[in-house]
Amino acid sequence: MDRMKYLFSVFWIVVIVCYGVSAGADQRADACVTCHSSLGGRLADPVTAWSGSIHQQNDITCDLCHGGNAEVDVGDMARLSGQALAEKQALAMSKDSGFIAKPSGQALFDMCAECHTASVSRYADSIMGKAYVAGKNGPSCVVCHQAHNNIIPAVPEVCDSCHKDTSGFSQIDPMSVTAATVDKLSRIRIQLIGEKTKGSRPVLVPAFPEDLDPYQIGFLAFGAVFVLFLLGCLVYVILEKRE
Ligand code: HEC
Ligand code: HEC
Ligand code: HEC
Ligand code: HEC
Ligand code: HEC
Repeated sequence: MDRMKYLFSVFWIVVIVCYGVSAGADQRADACVTCHSSLGGRLADPVTAWSGSIHQQNDITCDLCHGGNAEVDVGDMARLSGQALAEKQALAMSKDSGFIAKPSGQALFDMCAECHTASVSRYADSIMGKAYVAGKNGPSCVVCHQAHNNIIPAVPEVCDSCHKDTSGFSQIDPMSVTAATVDKLSRIRIQLIGEKTKGSRPVLVPAFPEDLDPYQIGFLAFGAVFVLFLLGCLVYVILEKRE
C-alpha cells in the first residue's frame, strides 16, 4: 500500500513540474516584440503590421528574419531606465547574434531564401530581379510583398508606379519575367488589341452570356415557361378546331 502511495506522489510531482515548465515556456516573452511595441511610432509599426500576417500565423518571428536574440529578458519595460534599455537593446540586436538591420540587394534575397529558396531563385533569375540587384530601379521583394505584412499583391495595381502600359500583366508571372515572358507578353498584347477592335464592330447577334446572375437565370426560366405555355395554348386551339 505504501508503495502505491509513493508511486502516486511521484506521478503528481512529475505532472506538476511538467505543467510548470510548459506554462513557463509559453509565457516567455519575445524581447523584440515587447520592446518594439512599447517604443511606439516608426519602431513599433513593424509589430503592428506583422501581427495577423501570414508570417505571424506561421510563427515566423522577428528574429527568424532579422537574426538577433529574442530571448533577452527585458522584464517590465515601463520600469527600465534609459541605460538599461540601451543595454538590453545592444544585447538583443548584437552583431554577434547575427543581427541584420535593413537588408537590401543580395542581403535581402539571402534573408528570404532562408525559407523561400525556390521563389527567390525564380525572381533572382528574372529581368527585374537582376535590375534590382544591380541597383537599376528593379522592385525589391518588399516593394511587392511589404516587409512585415507579406501579402500577395494585386496585379497590375502594384506595377503602376513603374510601368505606364500594364496591359496583359495579369496574364504573366511577375516573379519570373524573362526574355521569353517579354515575347509572350507582346503576343498577349496583339491578341488584346485584336479583341478590342473586334469588340468595336456592330454586333448583330448578341453572344450568349457565360456567367448569369440569379436574376437573369430566373428571368430566362420564366421566359421558357411562358413560351411553353403559349405553345400549349396553340396546340390546344389547333386540336379544338380539328374537332
Ligand atoms: C530593449 C529594447 C529593444 C529590443 C529588445 C530590441 N530592439 Fe530593435 N530597436 C530598439 C531601438 C531603441 C531601435 C532604434 C535604434 C536606432 O535607431 O539607433 C531599434 C531598431 C531596430 C531596427 C532598425 C535598425 C535600423 O538601422 O533601422 C530593427 C530591424 C530592429 N530594431 C529589430 C529588432 C529585433 C529583430 C529584435 C529582437 C531580436 C529587437 N530589435 C530587439 C530597441 C529594441
Ligand atoms: C519576413 C521577414 C521579416 C520579419 C518576420 C520581420 N522583419 Fe523587420 N524588416 C524586414 C525587411 C526586409 C526590412 C527592410 C524593409 C525596407 O527596406 O523597407 C525590415 C525593416 C525593419 C525595421 C526598420 C523599419 C524602418 O522603417 O526603418 C524595423 C524597426 C523592423 N524591421 C523591426 C521588426 C520587428 C520588431 C519584427 C517582429 C515583429 C520584424 N521586423 C519582423 C523583414 C522582416
Ligand atoms: C524563417 C522562415 C521564413 C523567412 C525567413 C521568410 N518567410 Fe515568408 N513565409 C514563411 C512561411 C512558413 C510562410 C507560410 C507558408 C507558405 O505559404 O509558404 C510564408 C509565407 C510568405 C508569403 C505568402 C505566400 C503565399 O502563398 O501566400 C510571402 C509573400 C512571403 N512569405 C514573403 C517573404 C519575404 C519577402 C521574405 C523575406 C523578406 C520572407 N517571406 C521570409 C517563412 C519564411
Ligand atoms: C513585381 C512584384 C513582385 C516582386 C518584386 C516579388 N514578388 Fe513574389 N509574388 C508576386 C506575385 C504577384 C505573386 C503571386 C503570383 C505568383 O505566384 O506568381 C508572388 C508570389 C510569391 C510567393 C508565393 C509562392 C510563389 O513562389 O509563387 C512568395 C513566397 C514570394 N512571392 C516571395 C518573393 C520574394 C522572396 C521576392 C524577392 C526575392 C519576391 N517575391 C519578389 C509579386 C512579386
Ligand atoms: C520599382 C519599379 C518597378 C515595379 C513596381 C515593377 N517593375 Fe517591371 N520593370 C522594372 C524595371 C526597372 C524593369 C527592367 C527594364 C529593363 O531593364 O529593360 C522592368 C521590366 C519589366 C518587364 C520586361 C518588359 C518591359 O516591359 O520592360 C515586365 C514584363 C515587367 N517589368 C512586369 C512587371 C509587373 C507585372 C509588375 C507588377 C507585378 C512590375 N513589372 C512592377 C521596374 C518595375
